[in-house]
This record gives sequence, structure tokens and C-alpha cells, in this order.
Amino acid sequence: MKDIFNAPFVEEMKKTTANMYRLGWDERNGGNISYMLNPTEVGEYLDLNNVIRTIPTGFDATPLIGKIFIVTGTGKYFKNVIDDPETNLGIIRIAEDGTTAELLWGYKDGGKFTSELPAHLMSHISRLEANPENRVIMHSHPTNTLAMNFVHELDEKKLTHSLWQTCTECIVVFPDGIGVLPWMVCGTNEIGVATAEKMKDYRLVVWGMHGIYGAGKDLDEAFGLIETVEKAAQLYMLTAHLPRVNTIRDEELAEVAEAFGLEYRKDFLDL
Ligand code: 13P
Ligand code: ZN
Repeated sequence: MKDIFNAPFVEEMKKTTANMYRLGWDERNGGNISYMLNPTEVGEYLDLNNVIRTIPTGFDATPLIGKIFIVTGTGKYFKNVIDDPETNLGIIRIAEDGTTAELLWGYKDGGKFTSELPAHLMSHISRLEANPENRVIMHSHPTNTLAMNFVHELDEKKLTHSLWQTCTECIVVFPDGIGVLPWMVCGTNEIGVATAEKMKDYRLVVWGMHGIYGAGKDLDEAFGLIETVEKAAQLYMLTAHLPRVNTIRDEELAEVAEAFGLEYRKDFLDL
């Protein structure tokens, strides 16, 4: 059996959480990540018949039965993952009943998966239907994205449009736009259902005045989506209160999207 501490997926989680922490996106225990793993690969590091304990999830994830995820722990700090992955992360498998998580590794101090597991697993279900390659759901509290939530309308078309207008390549990175939910109580099945509904159409979902979700085929894709939104939001916040001299016109945004051959939300432009 290979050493789990050298597993590439543990390394990736360590590096990603450390980056997110350093960027100021994940204060204290803010943010959470779930990353679907290849069972054959996990089997090189762990005995898949050895379930350390079972933890009820409180919702039905039947489409994910047998799937294995590495997931950040609830209440755990992203800054600490790099030094103690076995306490701050866990590897879980969705059991045959669809409502229980079988712990295969981690949460060493008796902890459990993120309180946002409903939003994560329900979003995995939505994204896998949209793209069978999807593996990662990532939640974070990026500073400028959040700041923008307080000064900009929480409207999918208007928010996407404002962000597309800040950098030429935003429309290339997220041509599908950004889904937006109003403020809701977090950590519930209700916000999970609402997020997953948006994830049918969007890889990015803003939780009004809370944070953002990104989805992707790997950690880089989910991270890159959130990173690009955050950069755009920073540019917005740096310029929103200043007189506007230049702007990227909607015709130009359409030109970029078409030059890259992208399917984009044409209805989010005013052409
Ligand atoms: P957890 O510590 O349960 O992951 O919660 C953090 C968070 O960001 C809630 O939305
Ligand atoms: Zn949060």
C-alpha cells in the first residue's frame, strides 16, 4: 500500500487550500472543497473495505452511491490543511443507502465533513449531468466578490455583465455566466437544493452576501473560475466610484466570444 500522505490528491488539496488562504479568500474556517476521486487510485493508498466510521449526511445522494470524495472538514481552517491534512480533510464514500458517508481516512480528531456537504454533493449531481468530467465543487469567501455583493444588484444578467466588462477575457473564462442566489441561511439542505438548481446551468454560483461556488473537472478549473471572478470584482471595486472614460462595449464582448468560438450567454449582452 502506498503512503496516503504522498497521494497526489492530498498534495493538490494542501496546495489549493494554502493558496486560497493566502489570497484572503478563506478566513478562519471559511470555504470548503469536495473533490471526487478515482476509486482505483484511492485503492492504491487505502483499504477500501476498512470503514473507520459512518456519518449520516441528512440528505439523499443516491446518484453518488459508491463515489469517493476528499472533503474539507467542518470548522477546520484552510491555513492548517498543509500541516495536518489528516485532521482537516477526510475521504468519504457515499454508502449504499445514499444517505450515509463512510469515512475511509481523515477527520482524525473525530470531526466530520463540511456543513455545506448538501450544496457540494447536490451540485456534484447537477454538474455531472451537465458534464460527466466534473470532479470538483469549491466554495469560498473572496473579498472583492463579496464586497461587490453589497454595492451591485444581485441579478444574474447584471452581475455577469458588469464582471465581463472589467476584463476582456472574463467572457472567455466564464461564457456561461454566473448564477446568483439571494441571501439564505447556509449549511442547510435548502441552500443545497437551490445551489444545485443553479449548477444545472452555471459553473459559478454567487451566494448573496456570503460567497461563491465554482465547479470544474479539476481543482485548477474550479479555482481558476473563482480567481477570475475575484480579479474582475477587484477591478470593479477599484473603478466603480470613478468616472468611466473607457468601457468594453457589448459588441466587443461578442466579438471576443465569437473569435474564441464560445457558446456564451448572448442574452446577458445588450446587442
Ligand atoms: P464549514 O467550516 O462547515 O466548511 O463552513 C464554512 C463555510 O464557509 C460555510 O459556508
Ligand atoms: Zn461559506
